[in-house]
This record gives sequence, C-alpha cells and structure tokens, in this order.
Amino acid sequence: SIYRFRKISGKTVINSIIGNPVSQSRSPHLHNGWYEKEGLDAVYVPFLTDSPQWFMKTAELLEINGSSVTVPFKSDIIPLVDTTDKAVDAIGASNTIYRDGSGQWSATNTDAYGLIKPLLDTLGIADLKGRKAAVIGAGGAARAAVFALQDKGAQVAVFNRTLSRAEDLADQFGCVAYGLGPEYAAALREYSSIIVQTSSAGMPPLEDVDPVAFYSFDGTEVVYDIIYKPEVTRMMARAKEAGCRVLGGFTMLEEQAVLQFEIFHDGKLK
Ligand code: ATR
Repeated sequence: SIYRFRKISGKTVINSIIGNPVSQSRSPHLHNGWYEKEGLDAVYVPFLTDSPQWFMKTAELLEINGSSVTVPFKSDIIPLVDTTDKAVDAIGASNTIYRDGSGQWSATNTDAYGLIKPLLDTLGIADLKGRKAAVIGAGGAARAAVFALQDKGAQVAVFNRTLSRAEDLADQFGCVAYGLGPEYAAALREYSSIIVQTSSAGMPPLEDVDPVAFYSFDGTEVVYDIIYKPEVTRMMARAKEAGCRVLGGFTMLEEQAVLQFEIFHDGKLK
C-alpha cells in the first residue's frame, strides 16, 4: 500500500511492525492515520523479517522508537528486550516493544489490555472483582484472555475441546478447567455471566462452527467473541437472538493499537 505523510523530517520518529507475514496487517493504516490526524512527526513502517535478532540490530541503527510484534515472533522477542511487564511474563508473549525513558527496550502485551477495555466499557464497570468468567479455547489468545480477566479480579474457568490443554492452562493460572460438550453445560452456566470466546472455531474456514452449540443462552450472559472476521460469528448471532449483550473482536483489535499508540508516544501505559 501507499501511505501519505504530512512530512518526513530530520527528526521523524520511526515506529514499526515486525512479522512474517506482515503485509496483511491493518496496523500501518491505523498508526499512520493517527499520526496524520494528530500532526505527529512520526512514521510507522512494516518490516517483513525472519529474524527478530536482525530486527533488534536494525532498530538500534535506525533508532526505532517502538514496534508492534506479530506472528510468529511474539514469544521469540521476549529474550531480546531488557524488561518485561507482568502481562508478558504471565502470557509468554509480547505484541509491543518500546524504549523506556533511558532507551532500554521494554515489552508489554496490549492484546491482553486491549481485550479487557471494551468488555469493561460494555459492562459499565471498572473491574471484575467478584465476577465469574468463562474462557473458551486454550491457545495463545486464551492465555491473554485469562491473564486480562484475572488481572481485573475475575474468577476464571477455561473450556477447551481438548481437555488436557485446558488443564495445562488452568494449572498455570490457578483456575479451573473443563472440556466442551453437553456434559460441561452446567459448568459453563456457572461461569456464564461473561463468556470470552478465543478459539479459532468460527474463523474461516470454520465459520459454521459454534464451539458452545451444546449450551443454550438465557439472555443474562455477556458474550465476547474475539474473532473479528466474520464480524458476527454463529455463536454471537445465537447469543444475540437470546437477548445477550454481544461484543465482537473488532473493538479489541482497534483498542490494542490505540494502547500501542499511547505507549509509543508517552513511553507508558495509560
Ligand atoms: P491461538 O494461539 O491463536 O489462540 P491455537 O493455539 O492454535 O491458536 O489454539 C486454537 C484454539 O482453538 C484451541 O483451543 C483449539 O482447541 P484444541 O486445543 O482442542 O485444538 C480451538 N479450536 C479450534 N477449532 C475448534 C473447534 N472446531 N471447536 C472448538 N475449539 C476449536
């Protein structure tokens, strides 16, 4: 794609995204759009690489200020930075690295913090203390969700097709684990006030799959599917039909980038 800039000066701040592939990312459009809107002397550039080590050297040479990190480098980047925050330590993945005040590289994970904000906004509350929440799935996205929900005080249960993977995740985070299927419907009911769907069921080419097809919504659940394509998954449509409050993944995608923008230009999380 071609990006238009207000200007490139001798002082232009360079931010980036690294990944492989990287050309499909919406992040350059979002970040460069904000720079233009805010009149910031900054540019956000995609780097296709197969080596995060190469990138860290390049980042020194080019004095890169901050970078988004996407597939497949979210874990590999961690040993290459100077400091990590509690989200990165718990999740074992970072999607954002930036220079702190002294020029050291710090890593955080705005996927996790970006996931929780739209949920709190929808609920109209500041934290999840005393709330139960169900996480569907046990992959990387589920780890971020479990961390983020627990960080805000929720009591979490993990539900996954492969029970042993749910148990592994639950062991690490000190929560409970269940499988998916009719025999787990009662357990899901117990944790159903917030249901966060993180599995790849519902994502193309699995778009007809509803991972909780065995469960009937009663309308009291807040149902959050972090899949953003399609915008409305089969599970979301069914929940909405039952009167549930429903949230898709698009706001999360936008929010993780907003948080990155704030980090890159303040050096801290807001
Ligand atoms: P990511 O790191 O992106 O979250 P992942 O590690 O590949 O992805 O995990 C994909 C998740 O989607 C897993 O929890 C997977 O369940 P299994 O552990 O049983 O494989 C889940 N998943 C994929 N297809 C699914 C389906 N049709 N029904 C239910 N869960 C599914």
